[in-house]
Amino acid sequence: MSVPVPELSERATACADRLRDADEVLLASHIDADGLTSAAIASSALSRAGIPFETVFSKQLDAEEIASIAATEYETVLFTDFGSGQLDIIAEHESAGDFTPVIADHHQPADADTEFHLNPLLFGLDGSSELSGAGASYVLARALESESADAGNLDNRDLAALAVVGAVGDMQISDGELVGANMGIVEEGIEVGVVETGTDLALYGKQTRPLPKLLEYATDVYIPGISNNKNGVLRFLDGVGIDLMEDGDWRRWVDLTDEERQTVASALVKRAMRKGVPAKKIEGLVGTSYTLVSEPKGTELRDVSEFSTLLNATARYERADVGLAVCLGDRGDALERARTLLTNHRRNLSEAISWVQTTGVTTEENVQWFHAEDRVRETIVGIVAGMAVGAKGIDRGTPIFAFAEKNEAEVKVSGRGTPGLTRKGLDLSVVMKESSRAVGGDGGGHDVAAGATVPKGKESAFIERADEIVGEQLG
Ligand code: C5P
Ligand code: C5P
Ligand code: ZN
Repeated sequence: MSVPVPELSERATACADRLRDADEVLLASHIDADGLTSAAIASSALSRAGIPFETVFSKQLDAEEIASIAATEYETVLFTDFGSGQLDIIAEHESAGDFTPVIADHHQPADADTEFHLNPLLFGLDGSSELSGAGASYVLARALESESADAGNLDNRDLAALAVVGAVGDMQISDGELVGANMGIVEEGIEVGVVETGTDLALYGKQTRPLPKLLEYATDVYIPGISNNKNGVLRFLDGVGIDLMEDGDWRRWVDLTDEERQTVASALVKRAMRKGVPAKKIEGLVGTSYTLVSEPKGTELRDVSEFSTLLNATARYERADVGLAVCLGDRGDALERARTLLTNHRRNLSEAISWVQTTGVTTEENVQWFHAEDRVRETIVGIVAGMAVGAKGIDRGTPIFAFAEKNEAEVKVSGRGTPGLTRKGLDLSVVMKESSRAVGGDGGGHDVAAGATVPKGKESAFIERADEIVGEQLG
C-alpha cells in the first residue's frame, strides 16, 4: 500500500480500514465526469479488495437523498465526489445510528466533521485545482490495496487513468497543466504505463474532430480569421500545405505526422501574434496533453478531455449506468450507447450557447446572469454557464449565474467565475450557499464554480443577495 498524496495518507488508511470492516457498502456518487470516474475507481478498488457493495448515483445530495440512503439496510455508506458539503446532515444521521459515512470528496465541507472524511481541503490542498473527487477516490483506492498484493498485480495504480479523466473533467487544469496532488497521480499513471503526457496544442477534440473543425471551434484563445471562421481555417491549412483528407476521410490532429503538427502549431502561434493576440493568451494555445495510452488512437477515450465529455453525456442524461460501464471497460454496447448520447449532448450545448449569445445576459453591478427556463436541462446549465464565460459578447471579468427550471417548484442556478476573479477574492461556494439560503434554498461548491437550488420566483432576490456578496468579496 502506498498513498500518492502524503498529506492524506493517515486519513486514507483509516477510511480503508473502516471499509474492510463493513459487511457490505453502499457506494453513492455524483452524476458528472468526476463523479462517474470516482465511482468507477471506488468500485474497482472495493471489488479487488473483496468488499461487497452496491452503487447508486445522485444528481444532488440533499436532505431528502440522504434520508433515502439512511432508509436502506446499509450500515456503511461511501460517498464519492459529494458528501463534504452535506456533512451537517450526514453527521446527524451518523449520530442517529443510521449509517457510518466514509467520504472521498473535494467540495467545501459544511460545518461538521466525521472520522472517515477524506478531503484535500482538510489538509491545506485546493479542492478545485489540486485534487478532484476522482483523485480523492484514487487516494482511497491505493489505501485499499491488499497488503499482500504484489506490486504490478493487484496494485491499483492503473486507476490513475480514470483519476486524470475526473480531474480534467472538473476543469482542474491551471495554466495548461494539472498541478499539486493531481501531479502525483499523473506520475503513478505514467509509472504503470496507462497515462502519457506531452506538450501539445491545448485544443479540444484532437482525437476525434476533423482538423478544420478542431481549429474552427477553438475559441478559448480567440484567433481572428481562424476561430469560428470555416473558410479562414481552410485557407490557413492550405497555406501551410496540410492535406485535409486521407482515404476519403477528414484527417484529425492524431493523423498528422509530428512534423505536420509542429508546422501547424507554429503557424497558428505566428498568426495569433500577427493578429495582435496578447502574448499571455498565446501561451494558452499550448499545454500538457494527457493521453490514455491503452485506448485506441482516434477515439474519445484516448484524450482525457474528450473522455470526460463522453461521460457527462451519459450521467447528466440519467444514464450514469452507461458511463460507469464505459469507465469499467465495456467497449461494446455501453460505448456505442455513450456515443449516441454524446451526439445529443453536443447538440444541446451548441443550441444552448447560441441561445445565450443571441438573447444576451443581464448585467448587475457585480454579476451577470441569464435565465434559460426550460430551454436548458438543469443538469447541463452549469456547463453552459462555464462555456458562456468568455464567449463572444459576454464579459469574462464578471461572475456569471445561469438559471434553469428544475421542477414545478424549484430552479437550479449555476455560478461560474475565473481563476483571475478567485485571486481577487471571489468565492462562489460562499455566494451560492448564502444567497440561496437567504431565499429558502441551498447550495455550495467551489470558489470558481458553484451551484444551488432556489424556490421558483426567488431568482431576483437571489441575484440581489449574490450581487451584494460578490461586491463585498471583490471590493
Ligand atoms: O461537482 P463538481 O466538483 O464535480 O463540479 C465541478 C464543476 O466546476 C465542473 O462542472 C466544472 O466545469 C466547474 N469548474 C470550472 N472551473 C474550474 C473548476 C471547476 O468551471 N476552474
Ligand atoms: O451544478 P453545477 O455544475 O453548477 O455545480 C458546480 C459545483 O457546485 C459542483 O461542484 C457541484 O457539486 C456544486 N453544487 C453544490 N450544491 C448544489 C449544486 C451544485 O455543492 N446545490
Ligand atoms: Zn468533482
